[in-house]
Amino acid sequence: MVEQSDAGLSRRGLMAVGVASAAVASAPSATAAPAQDAPILATVTLEVNDRKQTLHLDTRTTLLDALREHLKLTGTKKGCDHGQCGACTVIVEGRRINACLTLAVMHEGDTITTIEGLGTPERLHPLQAAFVRHDGYQCGYCTPGQICSAKAMLDEIKAGVPSHVTADLSDKPKLTEAELRERMSGNICRCGAYSNIVEAIAEVAGGLVKGEPA
Ligand code: FES
Ligand code: FES
Repeated sequence: MVEQSDAGLSRRGLMAVGVASAAVASAPSATAAPAQDAPILATVTLEVNDRKQTLHLDTRTTLLDALREHLKLTGTKKGCDHGQCGACTVIVEGRRINACLTLAVMHEGDTITTIEGLGTPERLHPLQAAFVRHDGYQCGYCTPGQICSAKAMLDEIKAGVPSHVTADLSDKPKLTEAELRERMSGNICRCGAYSNIVEAIAEVAGGLVKGEPA
């Protein structure tokens, strides 16, 4: 039996019209502009770990890929590549950022410190040495990001930058456990080494100030 719509068209007829219009919508248009997939290149000069580096890059290259793929500084890790894990944390102009969320060409002339610039196996940065002493890692994948983040975080506290949990905005923030955990919350450790990471950072900072429990 054939069903008729109010307008007198059969259901089968309506479906045929629908399929035909979908096919027209998805068919490549003869007048469409040609695909433009040739990369646009740019020259950018970065000062990475006290060395000037000039790179010719696709403008879409993230700072993370510029460091890892072009400069072979693979200490900085790619975890999520979406700004969610902190594994790619580096210090740019004194501030910590997620290198996966920023384009290299946005950093012309910037000074950038990666884990390779903080310490070497022979001369560990105090934070690196403290992470070793306190077992602040298991697999170590998050560790370069944790250490770069911790370095800039302690500088933020010294500079009086408040955080979400700073109770008194008229006073300089103090390094309580709650402050430390909040400020490091962008750095995920899938091995769950958090309590040892807190101990390591606290030791380098000269101890925690007693405050509200974290
Ligand atoms: S790799 Fe950048 S935040 Fe995860
Ligand atoms: S030590 Fe394995 S993810 Fe942190």
